[in-house]
Amino acid sequence: MQDLSLHILDIVENSIEAGAKKIKIIINENTKKNILTLQIKDNGKGMSKKTLTKVLDPFYTTKKTRRVGLGLSMLAQATKEAEGKFAIKSKIGKGTTVAATFVYSHIDRKPIGNMAETIIGLVAARGLDVVFIYTHNKNGNGFTFDTRYIKKELNNISITHPDVLNYLKKEIQKQLKSIGVST
Ligand SMILES: Nc1ncnc2c1ncn2[C@@H]1O[C@H](COP(=O)(O)OP(=O)(O)OP(=O)(O)O)[C@@H](O)[C@H]1O
Ligand SMILES: [Mg+2]
Repeated sequence: MQDLSLHILDIVENSIEAGAKKIKIIINENTKKNILTLQIKDNGKGMSKKTLTKVLDPFYTTKKTRRVGLGLSMLAQATKEAEGKFAIKSKIGKGTTVAATFVYSHIDRKPIGNMAETIIGLVAARGLDVVFIYTHNKNGNGFTFDTRYIKKELNNISITHPDVLNYLKKEIQKQLKSIGVST
Protein backbone atom coordinates (compact mmCIF):
# COMPACT_ATOMS: atom_id res chain seq x y z
CA MET A 1 0.00 0.00 0.00
CA GLN A 2 1.43 3.30 -1.15
CA ASP A 3 -0.22 5.96 0.98
CA LEU A 4 -1.38 6.36 4.56
CA SER A 5 -4.77 7.49 3.21
CA LEU A 6 -5.29 3.96 1.87
CA HIS A 7 -4.41 2.47 5.26
CA ILE A 8 -6.93 4.86 6.79
CA LEU A 9 -9.58 3.61 4.38
CA ASP A 10 -8.82 0.05 5.50
CA ILE A 11 -9.03 0.85 9.20
CA VAL A 12 -12.27 2.80 8.74
CA GLU A 13 -13.63 -0.20 6.85
CA ASN A 14 -13.10 -2.24 10.04
CA SER A 15 -15.04 0.37 12.02
CA ILE A 16 -17.94 0.22 9.58
CA GLU A 17 -17.94 -3.57 9.73
CA ALA A 18 -18.06 -3.28 13.53
CA GLY A 19 -21.29 -1.30 13.18
CA ALA A 20 -19.86 2.11 14.07
CA LYS A 21 -22.20 5.04 13.57
CA LYS A 22 -19.59 7.68 14.36
CA ILE A 23 -16.01 7.56 13.13
CA LYS A 24 -13.33 10.11 13.91
CA ILE A 25 -10.16 10.42 11.86
CA ILE A 26 -7.47 12.64 13.33
CA ILE A 27 -4.16 13.48 11.68
CA ASN A 28 -1.53 15.59 13.42
CA GLU A 29 1.58 16.70 11.60
CA ASN A 30 4.30 18.24 13.71
CA THR A 31 7.46 18.90 11.75
CA LYS A 32 9.24 20.53 14.69
CA LYS A 33 8.79 17.44 16.85
CA ASN A 34 9.32 15.41 13.67
CA ILE A 35 6.24 13.32 14.31
CA LEU A 36 3.10 12.36 12.42
CA THR A 37 0.20 10.85 14.36
CA LEU A 38 -2.90 9.21 13.07
CA GLN A 39 -5.95 8.17 15.07
CA ILE A 40 -9.15 6.43 14.07
CA LYS A 41 -11.84 6.25 16.75
CA ASP A 42 -15.13 4.47 16.38
CA ASN A 43 -18.19 3.67 18.45
CA GLY A 44 -18.62 0.20 16.99
CA LYS A 45 -19.08 -3.06 18.88
CA GLY A 46 -15.49 -3.17 20.16
CA MET A 47 -13.33 -6.18 20.93
CA SER A 48 -12.63 -8.34 23.93
CA LYS A 49 -9.17 -8.45 25.52
CA LYS A 50 -8.69 -11.88 24.05
CA THR A 51 -9.50 -10.69 20.52
CA LEU A 52 -7.24 -7.67 20.95
CA THR A 53 -4.24 -9.91 21.53
CA LYS A 54 -4.87 -11.60 18.19
CA VAL A 55 -5.69 -8.79 15.80
CA LEU A 56 -2.11 -8.16 14.70
CA ASP A 57 -1.80 -11.76 13.64
CA PRO A 58 -2.23 -11.69 9.84
CA PHE A 59 -4.10 -14.97 10.05
CA TYR A 60 -6.70 -13.60 12.43
CA THR A 61 -9.96 -12.39 10.92
CA THR A 62 -13.63 -12.60 11.79
CA LYS A 63 -14.55 -12.22 8.15
CA LYS A 64 -16.38 -15.25 6.84
CA THR A 65 -15.18 -14.80 3.29
CA ARG A 66 -11.44 -15.04 3.82
CA ARG A 67 -8.69 -16.57 5.86
CA VAL A 68 -6.39 -13.62 6.42
CA GLY A 69 -6.97 -10.23 7.99
CA LEU A 70 -4.35 -7.76 6.95
CA GLY A 71 -5.65 -4.26 7.58
CA LEU A 72 -4.27 -3.76 11.08
CA SER A 73 -1.09 -5.79 10.50
CA MET A 74 -0.21 -3.70 7.47
CA LEU A 75 -0.65 -0.41 9.30
CA ALA A 76 1.40 -1.76 12.23
CA GLN A 77 4.10 -2.75 9.73
CA ALA A 78 4.05 0.73 8.14
CA THR A 79 4.66 2.35 11.54
CA LYS A 80 7.53 -0.04 12.25
CA GLU A 81 9.20 0.84 8.96
CA ALA A 82 9.14 4.52 9.95
CA GLU A 83 10.30 3.89 13.54
CA GLY A 84 6.90 4.78 14.90
CA LYS A 85 4.42 3.14 17.23
CA PHE A 86 1.14 1.39 16.82
CA ALA A 87 -1.53 1.01 19.49
CA ILE A 88 -5.05 -0.26 19.60
CA LYS A 89 -7.54 0.17 22.42
CA SER A 90 -10.97 -1.32 22.51
CA LYS A 91 -13.91 -1.93 24.79
CA ILE A 92 -16.80 -4.25 24.13
CA GLY A 93 -19.93 -2.25 23.45
CA LYS A 94 -18.03 1.06 23.46
CA GLY A 95 -15.72 1.16 20.49
CA THR A 96 -12.18 1.02 19.26
CA THR A 97 -9.31 3.47 18.83
CA VAL A 98 -6.40 2.77 16.54
CA ALA A 99 -3.38 5.04 16.90
CA ALA A 100 -0.27 5.12 14.75
CA THR A 101 2.75 7.40 14.98
CA PHE A 102 5.56 7.85 12.49
CA VAL A 103 8.89 9.65 12.46
CA TYR A 104 7.90 12.47 10.13
CA SER A 105 11.09 12.75 8.12
CA HIS A 106 11.84 9.03 8.07
CA ILE A 107 12.79 7.90 4.59
CA ASP A 108 10.36 4.97 4.84
CA ARG A 109 7.45 7.00 6.17
CA LYS A 110 4.65 6.69 3.64
CA PRO A 111 3.14 9.88 2.25
CA ILE A 112 -0.26 10.88 3.59
CA GLY A 113 -1.81 10.61 0.14
CA ASN A 114 -5.09 12.05 -1.04
CA MET A 115 -7.18 12.61 2.09
CA ALA A 116 -9.87 14.58 0.26
CA GLU A 117 -10.53 11.61 -1.98
CA THR A 118 -10.50 9.16 0.93
CA ILE A 119 -12.95 11.15 3.04
CA ILE A 120 -15.30 11.86 0.14
CA GLY A 121 -15.20 8.20 -0.87
CA LEU A 122 -16.32 7.27 2.63
CA VAL A 123 -19.04 9.92 2.67
CA ALA A 124 -20.28 8.76 -0.76
CA ALA A 125 -20.52 5.17 0.44
CA ARG A 126 -21.76 5.62 4.01
CA GLY A 127 -22.46 9.31 4.57
CA LEU A 128 -26.18 8.73 5.02
CA ASP A 129 -25.94 6.46 8.05
CA VAL A 130 -22.44 7.04 9.46
CA VAL A 131 -21.10 10.31 10.92
CA PHE A 132 -17.55 11.11 9.78
CA ILE A 133 -15.43 13.64 11.65
CA TYR A 134 -12.06 14.37 10.10
CA THR A 135 -9.58 16.64 11.82
CA HIS A 136 -6.24 17.56 10.29
CA ASN A 137 -3.66 19.69 12.07
CA LYS A 138 -0.29 20.80 10.84
CA ASN A 139 2.11 22.78 13.00
CA GLY A 140 -0.64 24.52 14.96
CA ASN A 141 -3.06 25.14 12.09
CA GLY A 142 -5.96 22.84 11.44
CA PHE A 143 -9.54 22.22 10.45
CA THR A 144 -12.36 19.79 11.17
CA PHE A 145 -14.74 18.35 8.59
CA ASP A 146 -17.89 17.08 10.33
CA THR A 147 -20.71 15.51 8.32
CA ARG A 148 -23.25 16.39 11.06
CA TYR A 149 -22.55 20.07 10.54
CA ILE A 150 -22.56 19.76 6.76
CA LYS A 151 -25.91 17.95 6.78
CA LYS A 152 -27.43 20.77 8.80
CA GLU A 153 -26.11 23.34 6.33
CA LEU A 154 -27.43 21.32 3.38
CA ASN A 155 -31.00 21.31 4.68
CA ASN A 156 -32.85 18.87 2.44
CA ILE A 157 -30.14 18.23 -0.12
CA SER A 158 -28.50 14.81 0.25
CA ILE A 159 -24.87 14.72 1.36
CA THR A 160 -24.32 11.92 -1.17
CA HIS A 161 -25.52 13.97 -4.15
CA PRO A 162 -22.67 13.98 -6.72
CA ASP A 163 -22.59 17.80 -6.92
CA VAL A 164 -22.39 18.02 -3.13
CA LEU A 165 -19.61 15.42 -2.99
CA ASN A 166 -17.68 17.30 -5.66
CA TYR A 167 -18.06 20.55 -3.78
CA LEU A 168 -17.03 18.95 -0.46
CA LYS A 169 -13.96 17.38 -2.03
CA LYS A 170 -12.84 20.77 -3.31
CA GLU A 171 -13.50 22.29 0.13
CA ILE A 172 -11.30 19.71 1.85
CA GLN A 173 -8.58 20.25 -0.75
CA LYS A 174 -8.77 23.99 -0.11
CA GLN A 175 -8.56 23.52 3.66
CA LEU A 176 -5.60 21.16 3.33
CA LYS A 177 -3.82 23.67 1.14
CA SER A 178 -4.51 26.46 3.62
CA ILE A 179 -2.76 24.56 6.43
CA GLY A 180 0.17 23.67 4.20
CA VAL A 181 -0.64 20.08 3.31
CA SER A 182 0.07 19.26 -0.30
CA THR A 183 -1.85 16.46 -1.95
N1 LIG B 1 -12.70 -1.20 14.73
C1 LIG B 1 -12.90 -2.51 15.02
N2 LIG B 1 -13.93 -2.87 15.82
C2 LIG B 1 -14.15 -4.18 16.12
N3 LIG B 1 -13.37 -5.20 15.67
C3 LIG B 1 -12.33 -4.89 14.87
C4 LIG B 1 -12.03 -3.54 14.51
N4 LIG B 1 -10.93 -3.55 13.72
C5 LIG B 1 -10.57 -4.83 13.60
N5 LIG B 1 -11.39 -5.66 14.27
C6 LIG B 1 -11.26 -7.14 14.36
O1 LIG B 1 -9.94 -7.47 14.03
C7 LIG B 1 -9.89 -8.37 12.92
C8 LIG B 1 -8.65 -8.09 12.09
O2 LIG B 1 -8.78 -6.82 11.42
P1 LIG B 1 -7.92 -6.55 10.11
O3 LIG B 1 -8.30 -5.26 9.54
O4 LIG B 1 -6.47 -6.74 10.43
O5 LIG B 1 -8.35 -7.73 9.15
P2 LIG B 1 -9.79 -7.96 8.47
O6 LIG B 1 -10.60 -6.72 8.54
O7 LIG B 1 -10.35 -9.19 9.11
O8 LIG B 1 -9.39 -8.28 6.97
P3 LIG B 1 -8.85 -7.22 5.89
O9 LIG B 1 -8.56 -5.91 6.59
O10 LIG B 1 -7.59 -7.82 5.32
O11 LIG B 1 -9.92 -7.07 4.88
C9 LIG B 1 -11.23 -8.16 12.21
O12 LIG B 1 -11.62 -9.34 11.50
C10 LIG B 1 -12.17 -7.85 13.37
O13 LIG B 1 -12.59 -9.05 14.01
MG1 LIG C 1 -9.75 -4.87 7.94
